[in-house]
Amino acid sequence: MNWTGEIAIFSGNAHKRLAQAVSESLRVSIGAVEVFQFSNENIFVRYLENIRHRDVFIIQPHARPVNDSIMELLIMIDAAKRASAGRVTAVIPYYAYGRTDKKDQPRVPITARLLADLITTAGADRVLTMDLHAGQIQGFFNIPVDELTALPLLSKYLLSGRDDRQDYVVVAPDEGTVKRARNLAYELDAPLAIIEKRRVGNDEKVEARNVIGEVSGKNAILVDDEIDTGGSMVAAIEVLRSHGIADVSSMVTHPVLSGNALDRLSQAGLKELVVTDTLPVDNSATNGIKLRTVSVASLLAEAISRIHSGESIGDLFS
Ligand code: R5P
Repeated sequence: MNWTGEIAIFSGNAHKRLAQAVSESLRVSIGAVEVFQFSNENIFVRYLENIRHRDVFIIQPHARPVNDSIMELLIMIDAAKRASAGRVTAVIPYYAYGRTDKKDQPRVPITARLLADLITTAGADRVLTMDLHAGQIQGFFNIPVDELTALPLLSKYLLSGRDDRQDYVVVAPDEGTVKRARNLAYELDAPLAIIEKRRVGNDEKVEARNVIGEVSGKNAILVDDEIDTGGSMVAAIEVLRSHGIADVSSMVTHPVLSGNALDRLSQAGLKELVVTDTLPVDNSATNGIKLRTVSVASLLAEAISRIHSGESIGDLFS
């Protein structure tokens, strides 16, 4: 162990509200650091307190503007290492570029891997993240990665106080989400259905062709890691309707919610959307959708505390 000091929590500009909530839950004040852009858009970072030998956690999801958030994180890690921090953990509740995780067309990058290399090269000793698009992204790092899941929190929230559980079917909006949906279905003792989804080209267009499983007359719970343009969700709702679904609710960890996503979902008739605060959410214009946000702050705080004291993270979910 080469850190002797206490936990030190810092935040870039990506999601200060979440960082504040984590620090309150940990009862550790958030550290003083300045992170800003010069007029030429170059980012500058300076820690305003001594962090020598401390166990530093930098909370910085890849929120909009995504590439600025990433660059801030890299520079904050570099500055912390050069300031002789004992250990630096990059806390990245939402990891961007997760969908670019394989070479599935000729002459394309694996950006999720490139990003892992950048974070490691900057000097991070560990990564703490949540519901990666694909678990295999953990393997892009040669440093320890702890991946938390928000699904237990989300399902607890979505189902609290409801007594119509026997009518549920858990639906995976594509093959990539089957494992998550299956775990939830198992937990709820509910059946599972899978949507056959196809992406058309690289322009974010989605087609849902078929439903595998019995859904007629049931209430669907759609589960996904992220909701971006809303295209996957809308396509899923449409195909579920054509198969006689009664009602649809969705639970999604990362509310990317680009452009008019909420509008599209509202027009598609989505009743309820439960998300977390891994990314900042604007609750002011929900276009009639019951949008609920469950905070992951205390889960992150508990994980940080366990990493600091060398306790198991796995036990958090058992
Ligand atoms: C894709 O495979 C993911 O699991 C999500 O379904 C996807 O990122 C959602 O994107 P969008 O909302 O743009 O369809």
